[in-house]
Amino acid sequence: MTAKELRTMYVSFFRERGHREIPSASLLPENDPTVLFTTAGMHPLVPYLLGEKHPLGRRLTDVQKCIRTSDIDEVGDDVHLTFFEMMGNWSLGDYFKEESVSMSFEFLTRHLHIPPERLAVTVFAGDEAAPADEETAQAWKRLGLKEEQIFRYGSEENWWGPVGHTGPCGPDTEIFYDFGKPKCCESCGPACTCGKYVEIWNNVFLLFNKEEDGSLTGLAQKNVDTGMGLERVLTIFNGKTNVYETELFLPLMERLAELGAGKELPLRDRRIIAEHVRAVTFILGDPRRIVPSNTEQGYILRRLIRRIIRLFQKAGMESDCLRGLSAIVIDQYRDVYPELGENRDFILEELQKEQALFSRTLEEGLRKANRYLDSLEAGCRNEEQRGTGSPENGKPAMLSGELAFRLYDTYGFPIEFTEELARERGFAVDMGGFQRKFEEHQEKSRLASAGKFAGGLAEHSEQTARLHTATHLLGGALRKVLGEEVSQRGSNINAERLRFDFSFGRKVTKEELAQVEAMVNEAIDRKIDIVLEEMPPQEAWRSGAIGIFSEKYGDMVKVYTIPGYSREICGGPHAGNTEELGRFRILKEEASSAGVRRIKAVLERKEI
Ligand code: ALA
Repeated sequence: MTAKELRTMYVSFFRERGHREIPSASLLPENDPTVLFTTAGMHPLVPYLLGEKHPLGRRLTDVQKCIRTSDIDEVGDDVHLTFFEMMGNWSLGDYFKEESVSMSFEFLTRHLHIPPERLAVTVFAGDEAAPADEETAQAWKRLGLKEEQIFRYGSEENWWGPVGHTGPCGPDTEIFYDFGKPKCCESCGPACTCGKYVEIWNNVFLLFNKEEDGSLTGLAQKNVDTGMGLERVLTIFNGKTNVYETELFLPLMERLAELGAGKELPLRDRRIIAEHVRAVTFILGDPRRIVPSNTEQGYILRRLIRRIIRLFQKAGMESDCLRGLSAIVIDQYRDVYPELGENRDFILEELQKEQALFSRTLEEGLRKANRYLDSLEAGCRNEEQRGTGSPENGKPAMLSGELAFRLYDTYGFPIEFTEELARERGFAVDMGGFQRKFEEHQEKSRLASAGKFAGGLAEHSEQTARLHTATHLLGGALRKVLGEEVSQRGSNINAERLRFDFSFGRKVTKEELAQVEAMVNEAIDRKIDIVLEEMPPQEAWRSGAIGIFSEKYGDMVKVYTIPGYSREICGGPHAGNTEELGRFRILKEEASSAGVRRIKAVLERKEI
């Protein structure tokens, strides 16, 4: 079966069952400001999932182009992709669980001819936020699935969305293809990554909306949102073992084999190049033109292009072949996605520009990076000889944030790229340190462009970072003293003080303020390292991080943790250790508006 046949088969199946076909929307979400890219077919439909009437009715279907960078480190394996096509069908308050799974079952077994025993499904096991979904488990049984084909998992596996900060979400039932290999261990199931199971379809029951304050409210209508990965289904249907063996990747893979003949271009790198070339061609070809840059979507695009170029460089190949590879993608997809043909010149020109920009500094940057890593390695060896054991605490030794920033600033190395270089040699990068340098630099350019650059700037931005960390500690302490319902309503920091607005219905007593202040100072005295991690927003929410602002969340967010006190999604910058804060003092507590209180506080130097 060809990709074209599969797209048609899917859409016709749902059209015959009362669905209207909608076109693939842009890769840049139009109806959902909470995400950088369209990561699933539901983003363009958010207003309708929330209750607005869709002009085409309550049953819709489509094939949507998607970008999902959360899986970027898996790219090169058999099935993970940053760009993929998602086939989907929706019920906007129309049919629900039973009908949804039975249509999926019929499509899979009668149209794709997958034997029912090759299917495994997962359902939501329930938690404190929502009940177990036994109804769906029973529906699967009525369709003939056996108990051992039905797996129950908690929210980490069977809760979908929102991808951004707010939006529709709910329990899901995921459908897996079982390759029939023996189980890798006792607990092997669809959640296992051993390769026995591959997810092919997800049916989400969007029943809730996640609000700004993190709470879930019930939606006025019960929606179904499904998504099926076209590349994966094509792989399975055609009896292949990985997506690169399908017609969608074969021309690229063959061309890469020719170009790489006699060069050091390993299979995994060939796959990454092919995958990223397809992704960047689609991003550049999108009607809402994006170009490589250092922010948001443009940064992701830049990262992908630079990763390709580096892999060429690593194999001793000319980066010039990038355009030729992109042209293969354009020709292959232009029938289905005419925007690629229409934007052909733009795509190829932008690739050329970015390649020229990066190639100039790449080699020198790599030499520098390797020199940094060499000295790190030598340092570790010396430590080992001294018998002190290295890397310290069993953690990998780190490339300093300052050096990582220099690679970024002078040589245009995306930070993820430096991380990859370091990882290849067994090192980590001090991301917190990088972040601080980065923010400092931004602040400097902002002030410089406003003509305000002056001495003492570094000190200024360090004080801001300290106040920022104090704000997190204050939020955590307020929640502990006044209750978890306290949530941030606003925050403002200048060089002298912090200001923090939060929801609370009455004046905070003197005793309570003293308690809060003491708790913050206790955290300072305990000299706690602030931990920075990056993860997809869903993972951050699930791990208990709070995030208050309605700013756009990208595919990855930063989570700052002050262990024992606070865990927040936040852009930073922050102090490295609470010790740097000195002494925390609350100056004032007052009403800000109805139901919102305001605290002003300062950091003072610690008296010795
Ligand atoms: N929106 C659901 C997903 O992306 C279908 O898995």
